[in-house]
Amino acid sequence: MDYRIRTWPDKILKQKMKEVDFFDERLKGYIEIMYKRMYEEEGVGLAANQIGIPYQIIVIDTTKRENEEEKEEGIKLALINPNIVEKSGEVQSTEGCLSFPGIQITIPRAEKIKVLAQDIEGKEIELETDGFLAVVLQHEIDHINGIPFINYLSPVKRRLILEKYMKAKKELTRSK
Ligand code: CO
Repeated sequence: MDYRIRTWPDKILKQKMKEVDFFDERLKGYIEIMYKRMYEEEGVGLAANQIGIPYQIIVIDTTKRENEEEKEEGIKLALINPNIVEKSGEVQSTEGCLSFPGIQITIPRAEKIKVLAQDIEGKEIELETDGFLAVVLQHEIDHINGIPFINYLSPVKRRLILEKYMKAKKELTRSK
């Protein structure tokens, strides 16, 4: 596998990923390559299917985020089989995505969430969070469920954004 970033409309971005039931060297290898690719692409989060790994794994690192205004402490973590079990409040979130290069959109997200997941050893984790981390977690957990962030746009807006994106993508491919 080459672990290149899968970009829309790659079908792996539209599928629900398989649950992980192996907590071994293979899982560790997947997580390592996910961190590596995320840092290479300068992302703050990555879902396994974005690099072609068909499992419910996400990695996040918000520690290098250069936003002094929000005095939120960064965190680095890998979550296996994560699920959002509680949501409350609403915020408008402006997001980009490695699988939609060149696109930035503003969409509603829950303000506060509770996530149940497993760690690299298979131990259960419960995480309650808000702010930037909550938004990143929602974005990445959506990915492993086959839900791209454009799904939160109205049909009209989505069509316009996708037309712009596909046009830019075609031009990019042609100039290569
Ligand atoms: Co994304």
